[in-house]
Amino acid sequence: MGSANCMTTTQSSTTIFEALRSDHETQRTLIDLLVDTTGDSDGRNELFDRLQRELEAHAGAEERYFYVPLMEVDLTQDAARHSVAEHKELDDFVEQLRDYDMSGSQWLQTARELRTRLLHHLDEEEAEVFPVAGKALSDDEKRDLAESYDKDMARRREES
Ligand SMILES: [Fe+2]
Repeated sequence: MGSANCMTTTQSSTTIFEALRSDHETQRTLIDLLVDTTGDSDGRNELFDRLQRELEAHAGAEERYFYVPLMEVDLTQDAARHSVAEHKELDDFVEQLRDYDMSGSQWLQTARELRTRLLHHLDEEEAEVFPVAGKALSDDEKRDLAESYDKDMARRREES
């Protein structure tokens, strides 16, 4: 029976969209918690550190295992370029936060701005990019990319 064979290969049925969505949720949680912190506190330092590492790892893995393949397809090329440009914008906000005094009002104001931009970016990816990417990628590609993305994320999280 073929099904017995399938059971032993432990092939994951997770798609790249589910893998990305799950990490987007982590980012939403972290940025929400971050803007609720005050001053140069341990909580703010810890959350900012975690968010920075998470954003950097995600942008790297997502570009490699989602946007690079999407750039090769006419249908998704523009959307992929747009999203990658937004990763750079988000990174600029993180850079600013690194430079500012964590206890100043400018820091929180910039963190709130980062939150607005980040939520917009994640919502746009999920609502606009995922549906069109769903048409551009085959079912096998959606699963293979999820596996590669998750492996790369695990490696990047360990290294950061
Ligand atoms: Fe993303």
